Amino acid sequence: MQIILCDSAEQVGARAADLVEARLRQGPAVLGLATGGSPASTYEELIRRHREESLSFSQVTAFTLDEYAGLPANHEQSYHSTIRREFVDHVDLPLEQLLTPRGDAADLVTEADRYDAAIVAAGGIDIQILGIGANGHIGFNEPTSSLASRTRVKTLAGATRADNARFFPEGEVPRLCLTQGLGTIRDAKRAVLVALGENKANAVRAMVEGPLSAHCPASVLQLHQHAVIILDPAAASQLSLLDYYREAQELNDQL
Ligand code: GLP
Repeated sequence: MQIILCDSAEQVGARAADLVEARLRQGPAVLGLATGGSPASTYEELIRRHREESLSFSQVTAFTLDEYAGLPANHEQSYHSTIRREFVDHVDLPLEQLLTPRGDAADLVTEADRYDAAIVAAGGIDIQILGIGANGHIGFNEPTSSLASRTRVKTLAGATRADNARFFPEGEVPRLCLTQGLGTIRDAKRAVLVALGENKANAVRAMVEGPLSAHCPASVLQLHQHAVIILDPAAASQLSLLDYYREAQELNDQL
């Protein structure tokens, strides 16, 4: 794992955007997009570079990580609508190149298989942007998710439903979702996880320094050959090897 320690959310966004931009400059790319607060500064910076520095997304195919079951794509709280509102509608990524699992599919099991196969058919994800849940989930792979899992239907953990309750009228938080699996995420050629704030600090420590364990689904990134973890000071605050990460970052930045 490569750990990048930043001073602020803006710097986290800039470092993540650097990685995305470097890949886009090489030609057509497949991006994996996370929703949530964590990647907001990354998307803001990519939008700025699109507007001010002509960074183009016209050759990008994008797959979102996950979707609530039961919500049609055009529902205000669907992740399809969310990623459009927060990122896609502000850049030149053609809408037909934005792919999300269909949360309102009649057969969710078949839809999950179809989505996983579509990622493979697109040549796999070049850069997967990830946030992390306070319980260590990535995508909606809740604790005890199989480390080899593919895109599938999952039951949301109570803690995740509580975190997301603010987006729904009382009693209407979905209980099921479709999510790329941990094996699917592990197949991405590069994984870029951004984490901000103190409430992520324990999950970040478990992911980076804890045992490889389905209890902390994000720890699957320990098995990834090109995982980059970008942290603000609060999210990094529980790490025990900070001096080592700082030194490695300094040397790496000189390469
Ligand atoms: C959500 C999403 C994840 C996201 C995580 C953290 O439920 N399914 O993709 O990374 O939880 O969210 P946030 O970045 O808002 O803290």
